[in-house]
Amino acid sequence: MSVLTYRDERLFMEDVALADIVSMIGSPCYVYSRRALTDAYRAFREALDVQRSLVCYAVKANGNLALLATLADLGAGFDIVSRGELERVLAAGGDPARVVFSGVGKTEGEMRRALELGIRCFNVESVAELARLDTIAGTLGVRAPVSLRVNPDVDAGTHHYIATGLKENKFGIPLAEAVACYREGSRYPHLSFVGIDCHIGSQLTDLRPFGDALDRVLPEVAGLRRAGVALTHVDVGGGLGVRYRDERPPTIAAYVALVRERLAAHGLQDLELILEPGRALVAAAGVLATRVEYIKETDAKRFAIVDAGMNDLIRPALYGAWQSVTAARRRVGPAREYDVVGPVCESADVFGRGRPLVIESGDILVIGEAGAYGFAMSSQYNARPRPAEVLVDGARFHVVRRRETYEDLMRGECVVRAGSRS
Ligand code: LLP
Repeated sequence: MSVLTYRDERLFMEDVALADIVSMIGSPCYVYSRRALTDAYRAFREALDVQRSLVCYAVKANGNLALLATLADLGAGFDIVSRGELERVLAAGGDPARVVFSGVGKTEGEMRRALELGIRCFNVESVAELARLDTIAGTLGVRAPVSLRVNPDVDAGTHHYIATGLKENKFGIPLAEAVACYREGSRYPHLSFVGIDCHIGSQLTDLRPFGDALDRVLPEVAGLRRAGVALTHVDVGGGLGVRYRDERPPTIAAYVALVRERLAAHGLQDLELILEPGRALVAAAGVLATRVEYIKETDAKRFAIVDAGMNDLIRPALYGAWQSVTAARRRVGPAREYDVVGPVCESADVFGRGRPLVIESGDILVIGEAGAYGFAMSSQYNARPRPAEVLVDGARFHVVRRRETYEDLMRGECVVRAGSRS
């Protein structure tokens, strides 16, 4: 069941009216449901059942500390792609031993910090990165746990900006090259090859590409095992899609069942299974609430100009993504079509076109499925302080990130005039 429901014509998240949150803390603001996040995590855990497994939440989707702490308390691991994400996980009480580190451009400093903390595994994306990690682990006197991220050359059938599993993408190591690395593992005395991983893209709404990727990768894992290279885990990445409009993504249970069935088919069900879901855990748990500042009608269009902009939520502008727009207060009357637009000086600053709404200026609109890649991709473009973030928990809510101030906008800057001494 959705965590959003109308009661007496007012839109609630769990047991809190969204309009009440906005009247107390202002707009725009992101609002998240602890219950929705918890339920999604539990759906993964239940589907995994007795399978040895670790659900590593992809922090990039939403790194808010309150969400990370909720997941850490539930026993989740984390998939990180930067030192910043690692520090967030630590600050939220996450266990470094449950952290996997992905990304094509890990710096020396990032590797060192992660090795010192004893993370679970590095998802290594190139031979050059292997050599660097080996050297750094050697200088620290430790062995780095490694999983090679392989590129299975599979079309994920998703937006080309977020497809990552084709050979022309920058991600991963070609499968044959990865197999050679595993076989020559002794060339890297400070690495231990513990796993293999693959992530082919995001917002996949069909199981087939996941199956295709596994059918390329798992036979190689079985072959390596026969050759004496015993990996202990398979990491299948993230990518499970959610419903924004009329997509019919597989359920978490169906997705996990497919992965487990493929592992079993290749005789690998005894391996630990790592998953890196981002969107499937947090997208539906969050909304962006925004106020209608003006209604503007021209010969061509009717606009609802809201106080959130593409700097706060860039998915519609960047990917042409469709996200729902709903009034927080249901009014009676004929719906009229609006282009819902922000105040940013770009024509791409549109949340939705031709949306049927019954609204007046001052009303609150709620943009749905904004929990993933919403705040995480926000910026201060047009010198706009970033919005507050709120966590709803039953009948209560907490501000889990205060709205940025104008001082925040200028933090760290200074004025240098002609002739100033350095
Ligand atoms: N693992 C790796 C290595 C990844 O690169 C990603 C996402 C994930 C896991 C999590 O994928 P998810 O389960 O969330 O699909 N900004 C885009 C999505 C970019 C995804 C990048 N990688 C969007 O707003 O649609």
